[in-house]
Amino acid sequence: MSKLVSLAKRRGFVFQASEIYGGIGSSWDYGPLGVELKRNVKDAWWRAMVHERDDIVGLDSAIIQHPKVWEASGHIENFTDPLVDCLKCKGRFRADKLDDARCLEKPSKKPGECGGELTAPRRFNLMFKTFLGPVEEGAATAYLRPETAQGIFTNFVNVQQAARKKPPFGIAQIGKSFRNEITPGNFIFRTREFEQMEMEFFVPPAQWEQWYGEWRKLRQQWYVDLGMDPAKLRLRDHAKDELAHYSNGCTDVEYLFPFGWSELEGIASRTDFDLKRHSQFSGKDLQYFDEQTKEHYVPYVIEPAAGCDRATLAFLVDAYTEELVEGEVRVVMKLHPRLAPLKVAILPLVKKDGMPERARALEKSLRQRFTTFYDEAGAIGRRYRRMDEVGTPFCVTIDGQTAADGTVTVRHRDSMQQERVAEKALESHLSAAMAAWSRGAR
Ligand code: GLY
Repeated sequence: MSKLVSLAKRRGFVFQASEIYGGIGSSWDYGPLGVELKRNVKDAWWRAMVHERDDIVGLDSAIIQHPKVWEASGHIENFTDPLVDCLKCKGRFRADKLDDARCLEKPSKKPGECGGELTAPRRFNLMFKTFLGPVEEGAATAYLRPETAQGIFTNFVNVQQAARKKPPFGIAQIGKSFRNEITPGNFIFRTREFEQMEMEFFVPPAQWEQWYGEWRKLRQQWYVDLGMDPAKLRLRDHAKDELAHYSNGCTDVEYLFPFGWSELEGIASRTDFDLKRHSQFSGKDLQYFDEQTKEHYVPYVIEPAAGCDRATLAFLVDAYTEELVEGEVRVVMKLHPRLAPLKVAILPLVKKDGMPERARALEKSLRQRFTTFYDEAGAIGRRYRRMDEVGTPFCVTIDGQTAADGTVTVRHRDSMQQERVAEKALESHLSAAMAAWSRGAR
């Protein structure tokens, strides 16, 4: 992890937020390459969930909703962690995670083992509170959403009618959520501000088990299709006492991070809990009327809810490879080309004989289609290595032969193999090579 965190900073994937002020706990900023990678993760999710299906549509709902939303959803009452305070070191710890916590004064000890007295557990709500308008009074209290899902439930009828959808159908959303976690950590894995990729799939009640099974399979496969090592992915069913207040069953897709197996996303069966509660609290009828069977019913919901930041971290961890090449360590990010922040680097072999001009013109034309990078600084071998380290799948070199026969060298990141390709055919050649990419043995 420490190698990855340092590469992420050095190459502009992820920076510590407010670094010039000493940083702020568990807040991170995505740099020029990180923002591209994360956008590619989101685009791949949106494509798989919305564009490639005819039964899911998209939504972008507000972060700040009516406070009643969180009463109805059960988050005001139930979205809490039990916390204890140490009267000696003044540390605050999760009562159910004391074994993993460390005393603030004596880090070799667990809370309570240092002689400090621990208070009885108190429930601490994880939602961030804010105030609407200039008056900080109870009536104007609002919350930053702790999940994007509720904006989907409150729009169930709007979307169903506007898009003329019939269950089974889904509504997908990507956006920021906020949780005042007491124990954030592991780089961008657990942060208080994070981005979710959530989809609520509304089904006739009798079909919930079938769809729960279907989404478990589809969601695990999504990571494999984007090049993740299947041996480092697993499904883990929640025990009864782990289930969220709205759920009667949940399976996590987990990845084997350097810090152990951890959740990438949860596939939850939310039953008709949310729609029924919103119906009760708003007084609005949120049933679906099936014209064919003449039946009114509240759909059941299956929810695949993925963390975008932790998926991005998992793709980075999984892609990070060190290889010994000619006695030197080559660091290479073997990212799926769809996820790679830069697709093609264009490199003139030397800074003379018209090569830079020709390379710049080629880069400009490829830029219409791919994310590109032009580099003429330093030895060609070093330029290749710089691109390997950030996962650029192709380096295209303009050399002496280019002027003579119109061909360029294409170097492949993973195999380091080179081939000559006619400049005119380059765009389609690269597209085909990207489509044909597979993970291969590492
Ligand atoms: N909507 C489920 C979650 O935020 O975990």
